[in-house]
Amino acid sequence: MASLTTPSRASGPAGYDVEAVRREFPALAQAVNGHPLIYLDNAATTQKPRVVLAALRQYYERDCANIHRSIHTLGERATEAYEHARRVTQRFLGAGSAREIVFTAGATAGLNLIAQTFGRMQVGPGDEILVTAMEHHSNIVPWQMLGQEKGARLVAAPISDAGELIWEEFERRLTPRTRLLAITHVSNALGTINPLRRLIAAAHAQKIPVVVDGAQAVAHLPVNVAELDCDFYVFSGHKIYAPTGVGVLYGKSEWLERMPPWQGGGDMIRSVSFEATSYNRVPYKFEAGTPNIAGVIALAAALDFALQLGLEASAAHEERLRQLATERLKSIPRLRLIGEAREKVGVLSFVLAGIHPHDVSTLLDQQGIAVRAGHHCAQPLMDRFGVPATSRASLAAYNTAAEIEALAAGIAQVQEMMS
Ligand code: ALA
Repeated sequence: MASLTTPSRASGPAGYDVEAVRREFPALAQAVNGHPLIYLDNAATTQKPRVVLAALRQYYERDCANIHRSIHTLGERATEAYEHARRVTQRFLGAGSAREIVFTAGATAGLNLIAQTFGRMQVGPGDEILVTAMEHHSNIVPWQMLGQEKGARLVAAPISDAGELIWEEFERRLTPRTRLLAITHVSNALGTINPLRRLIAAAHAQKIPVVVDGAQAVAHLPVNVAELDCDFYVFSGHKIYAPTGVGVLYGKSEWLERMPPWQGGGDMIRSVSFEATSYNRVPYKFEAGTPNIAGVIALAAALDFALQLGLEASAAHEERLRQLATERLKSIPRLRLIGEAREKVGVLSFVLAGIHPHDVSTLLDQQGIAVRAGHHCAQPLMDRFGVPATSRASLAAYNTAAEIEALAAGIAQVQEMMS
C-alpha cells in the first residue's frame, strides 16, 4: 500500500492525503444513479480497503483451513494468522494481554455474551443496570432481557437538548443498587462522545463495573482500554473497514476467568463426557464453534490499515469535515440538526420540515448520495427528541470537503423538489 499520509498538493492541510486514502477503497470509484458515489453512511457500515479484500482472498485462495485443530500446513497457517489477529487487536486496543481479546460476530454478540455470562453473575433481584438515553438497541435490549430474567431494573440516565449526558442526573442514578453501567463511547445517532474516563472513574468509585459499546468509536478515536480502565469494551469490525460478521470483546482477565462460558460447542472445551465437561482456557472458552476465520484475519488487516492511516490524522480530517458539514447544514432553512454536543464525531442527524427522512434518503440516493434514514436502532433517543426518525450523514476517513458541499446542495435540491 502506498503511503497514505505523504503531503500532496491535492491533500489539503496537515499532509493528510485523502485522495490517496480513497484510492485504497475500490467501491468509492463507482457511479450510482449516474452520479459519482458519495458514501455518507459510515455509521451503518464502512467501505473496505484493498488490504482487507486481499486478506479475505488470501485466506480463501491459499490458507483455507480450520484453526486450533488440524496439524497440517494450511491449518497451521490459518491458526497463526488468526492468533496474530488477536495480538494486533490487543495492541490496537491497548489491552494488557491477548487473552483479554475474544472474537465475536460483532458488538451486538459481544454485549449479549456479557449480559448472559457476567450479567447473570453480577445482577440479582432488585438490582439496577444503568444505561443512558442515547444507547443503541443492542446496549438496551440484552440488559432488559437480563433484567426480566433476574428481576432487575433498567435505568436510563437522561441527556440534554444538545445530546450530552447530564452529569448530575447521571451521578444521581449511580446508587448502591446499581450493579452495572453499560454505556456507549460514541452515540450512533448523535455523534456525541461520552466522557468515558470520568464516567468510569465515578462508577468504579462505587465498585460498579463498566461495559462500553465502542462500535461507533473505534474508527474515529484512538482507544486505549487500559487507560480507560473499563471492564469490558466491544466493537464491530465492519464499522472500521473490516468485513461484516466479526467483532471484538475486550474483557479484563480477572472477569473473563470468573465468567461462565456463553455458547457450548467445539473449541471451547478441554474435555467432554456425557457426565461432565471441562472448559478451555480464556479466551477460547468464549469462542465455541468454527469462528469467522477469514473475517478475523481481515479484521487485523483493517486495524493495521487504520493505524497506518493514523487515527489522530484521520480524526483531525473528519473533524474538519464535521465542522464544515455542521456549518453548511445549519445554514439550510427548515433543517433541524439533532445532536450538537461539544465533543462529537462526524455524525450529522437532521430532519427537514415537512419531508419524511425516507424521502430525503431516496431523493439523495438519486443524486448518488448515500445517507441513512430511520430510527437508527435508537428508538428511545428518537422519543427524547420527539421525532420518529432522522436522516443521518456519517463520515469516514475517506470523505472529502467536496462531498460535504454536494450533500448540502443535494439537501437544498430535495427541498426544492418537495416544495
Ligand atoms: N448501528 C448501525 C447504525 O447506526 C447499524 O446505522
